[in-house]
Amino acid sequence: MNNISTMRTHYCGELTSEMIGENVTLCGWVNSTRDHGGLIFIDLRDVSGIVQSVIDPVDTPQAHKKGHQVRDEFVLQLTGKIVRRPEETINPRLKTGEIEVEVATLEILNASRPLPFQIDEAKDISEEVRLRYRFLDLRRAEMQKKLKTRHQVYQITRRILDKHRFTEVETPILSRSTPEGARDYLVPSRVHAGKFYALPQSPQLFKQLLMVSGVERYYQFARCFRDEDLRADRQPEHTQIDMEMSYVNEEDILLIVEELARSLFREVKAVDLPSEFPRMTYQEAMLKYGTDRPDLRIPLEIKDVSELVKDSEFKVFTATIQKGGVVRGLCIPGGAVLSRKDLDDYTSFAGNYGAKGMAWIKCQEDGLQSRILKFFPEKMLAELQEVFSAKAGDLMVFIADRESVACQTLAQLRLKFAEQFSLVEEGYRPLWVTNFPMMEYNEEEKRWEAMHHPFTSPLEEDIPYLEKDPSRVRARAYDLVVNGTELGGGSIRIHRQEVQEKVFRSLGMDKKDVQEQFGFFLNALQYGTPPHGGLAIGLDRLCMILTDSSSIRDVIPFPKTQRAISLVSGEPAPVYEKQLEELHIKVMEEEEEEK
Ligand code: AMO
Ligand code: AMP
Repeated sequence: MNNISTMRTHYCGELTSEMIGENVTLCGWVNSTRDHGGLIFIDLRDVSGIVQSVIDPVDTPQAHKKGHQVRDEFVLQLTGKIVRRPEETINPRLKTGEIEVEVATLEILNASRPLPFQIDEAKDISEEVRLRYRFLDLRRAEMQKKLKTRHQVYQITRRILDKHRFTEVETPILSRSTPEGARDYLVPSRVHAGKFYALPQSPQLFKQLLMVSGVERYYQFARCFRDEDLRADRQPEHTQIDMEMSYVNEEDILLIVEELARSLFREVKAVDLPSEFPRMTYQEAMLKYGTDRPDLRIPLEIKDVSELVKDSEFKVFTATIQKGGVVRGLCIPGGAVLSRKDLDDYTSFAGNYGAKGMAWIKCQEDGLQSRILKFFPEKMLAELQEVFSAKAGDLMVFIADRESVACQTLAQLRLKFAEQFSLVEEGYRPLWVTNFPMMEYNEEEKRWEAMHHPFTSPLEEDIPYLEKDPSRVRARAYDLVVNGTELGGGSIRIHRQEVQEKVFRSLGMDKKDVQEQFGFFLNALQYGTPPHGGLAIGLDRLCMILTDSSSIRDVIPFPKTQRAISLVSGEPAPVYEKQLEELHIKVMEEEEEEK
């Protein structure tokens, strides 16, 4: 007999009609049980699936007696013979539906309290209850499948990167702050009063140090910790497929990541991604889609009509253009069916993103319709229609504002219209976005910030502008976007200490700050650092896409809530006074969060 462990001979879901007549020992949970007066039926479930077992009161009175006590999710071990089911009871929906196990002996290995929800109905209950009883939620076939997909992602990634001569290296979790842009999670030191470790926002500096160390090609499934506002695709801790390579250019990195992505989609989803991923500069993405992570499944494109309408009589447009703003718009096929009320709702939606209004023109069979037609000469209206290839039944909408507001608003409108008019095409559309600006101006803090991170190399020809005009400097950075999600990001790094110092200076850091925070790194760069670059893929987001999940929490076994709380184990939690004393910490009462 094929012994798979000392406790069982087979997995429930793997029994087949070829095995009829064989004796087996199975272990698992009671998925359901039915007592038909005489016969007791128990559906037994393990990691592989479900099989029906049947207990006869006459042939096996002992087992039958125990069978009476059995309830859902009890843990059983049973022995018995595989038999064919009577023709009329064959269940074509079950993989093992042609057979059942005629029970000889039954052991109750453990009981279960009544469940807070039925395992196979958990999909419909609130996420809060699911997260509180995560250990039960994970018993569901759907969740088991997601865990398996995650496992597959690790295996495939290891295989492909190993083939390309990458070495898997771990870097510290108790480390120091890296500037990825979020707040750090800090860990106080007991031994060194008043000093802290920071949990890494990413292993950025360590992986670059590994390039100085001669590893040449590094990867790691890296846990990253960021104290930031959470969203459907953000968690306080996430996992990255983190990579770094020496002696490479953008092209080398992009091609390896494409190969990895293609293998993952092929092997996990049987989906063929294109043999070359399209590429688009940041500037083009912002112009056409209003965002640096466009969803290419949506065929709508933003058009800039500032030049076209600048001599119209519509003050809202002309005044905006005179102040240096832009007028951009979208054309929604079929959008002319929207009512005034719908359009008002869209206008207030646009307002959420800072737009002061949303102008619209409907294209009807009998001509154009809009409150603002009177401000435009016929010829201009015809030109607008031409720019958008607008046909009867379509709707044109316009936002006049500062470029950043117009981009952001139209990007959101594009998604909303696409959803309402079912314009999102099927499939998976990867895209590389390249040539990001190096710096971004932080209006609140009145200073320049690195858009990716400050170790990103500027384009060689833009280095002279670093201190003169940071807005002009482009970075050798790239993002991988799939269906509107930023799946990964990376860059060619600065490998020369003097350029790195220049970048820190242009970010407004003085010598002392730089020395304190990054002295160790600048020092290391001076010992023969090879040119290098890399990228990190958000593994949780990747698994979200591969499993068609709508929340990142569905692919993380024990996620936190939107408020960064673990419902299953209750953290963050108070600690004993004595622990705080050892850590030299005093909690200020008024800042304690209410329970
Ligand atoms: P970046 O900050 O772009 O780059 O992160 C890389 C990828 O990680 C994922 N990600 C997240 N996933 C879930 N929750 C979060 N809070 C979260 N934050 C980021 C995204 C993102 O594309 N060190 C650089 C990489 C490099 O330059 O090599 C870095 O961390 O999918
Ligand atoms: P008003 O002249 O304010 O009544 O606006 C006329 C139309 O222009 C309305 O449909 C407004 O929503 C729209 N509108 C107002 N401000 C803007 C703007 N900044 N961009 C685009 N449309 C606007």
